[in-house]
Amino acid sequence: MNAKDYIARENVVCANIYTPLSVVLHKGKGSWLWDVEGKKYLDLMTAYSAVSFGHSHPRLVKALNEQAQLLALPSRAFFSDQLAPMMEKACALSGLDMGIPMNTGAEAVETAVKVARRWGYQVKGIPENKAEIIVAENNFHGRTTTIISFSTEQEYQKDFGPLTPGFKAVPFGDVQALEKAITPNTCAFLVEPIQGEAGIIVPPKGYLKEVRRICTENNVLLILDEIQSGFGRTGKVFAFQHEGIQPDGLTLGKALGGGLLPISLFLGRRDVLSLMTPGSHGSTFGGNPLACAVAQEAMDLLVEEKLADHSAKMGTYMLERLRKIKSPFIKEVRGMGLWAGIEFHENHLMARKVCEKMSEKGVLSKDTHTTVIRVAPPLNVTQEELDFGLDVFEDVLKEIEKETSYGF
Ligand SMILES: Cc1ncc(COP(=O)(O)O)c(C=O)c1O
Repeated sequence: MNAKDYIARENVVCANIYTPLSVVLHKGKGSWLWDVEGKKYLDLMTAYSAVSFGHSHPRLVKALNEQAQLLALPSRAFFSDQLAPMMEKACALSGLDMGIPMNTGAEAVETAVKVARRWGYQVKGIPENKAEIIVAENNFHGRTTTIISFSTEQEYQKDFGPLTPGFKAVPFGDVQALEKAITPNTCAFLVEPIQGEAGIIVPPKGYLKEVRRICTENNVLLILDEIQSGFGRTGKVFAFQHEGIQPDGLTLGKALGGGLLPISLFLGRRDVLSLMTPGSHGSTFGGNPLACAVAQEAMDLLVEEKLADHSAKMGTYMLERLRKIKSPFIKEVRGMGLWAGIEFHENHLMARKVCEKMSEKGVLSKDTHTTVIRVAPPLNVTQEELDFGLDVFEDVLKEIEKETSYGF
């Protein structure tokens, strides 16, 4: 069967919620993917950073296989010998005290919302049902009904109401707006240190430090969503470490599962998480030994292979190369570590076209918000691989410039 057949079949049985490129993948190894017809591609997308260690990393696959043969899912009706070691590693890396294991990123964010509200009522003394959480405009935290309620993207909300109340959005990167928005009923500020899905938006330097100060002064929990930015993506293990601050709560996911399975966490301060009691929350698959074994190996790999440092070094190289590209289409290159967003001028609407042309030449990435292309290779990408991807990107831009009449 060829690619066209798979695409046609998928379109019959899967609701049309994505707009994938016409590439049907079959195999992955390290930084590379192969389609059903055997064509090879460099992966600059890494499943929205979930494949930060590359595809089928042998150490991660080994951990998965070994644990699968031992014990995969006893549920949390019992203890297991994998959960505590995994949580200990995550706490040690983040500097937080304890947490709740879940599966997807959205579940970790939902957990954060529940914990923050409970703290608001039980510790801060907010009147019943009045707790407010402040978020940033253009955030992306997932797709549940509560999470889309505090999205500022109308497309995410349309026809899914009634929406969940209790959220307020302020411009990202604007500390004065945050300070002004806080009321006695504010229990938390939930924010991505770098906004990923919005187009890799890096806030002004010092933003998180100021946010930390404001939250502390106003007795508001600072909850960072590092589901996409965490585990080395930005050149530090966590993006908040660039500013030497400590959040009160942290959501993690994606790369934690080593690109093999879903696992997410909400981590926080002990005095906050101790408010969660039996029956207040849970998940059948959350904290399962299979995911925990892979997550432990993923965290070991990150530390032992110094992947955050590699991400910083390769990222600097990548961003320098991207910023040197002279193209009339490029409006801005943003990023940190191995995470870049290249924004094109609005009227060109060509991010998709660039991705399509790159895929023809064996490089995969995806547009976000029609004007931005993300570049997020595996953290262990080599300079040679990166150069191949960036060469293709440059070639494609030149090709489009030649083809179109709107070259300047
Ligand atoms: C910052 C952030 N938070 C939460 C999520 C949601 O994660 P999931 O798709 O695993 O639910 C994402 C996914 O892209 C994300 O980037």
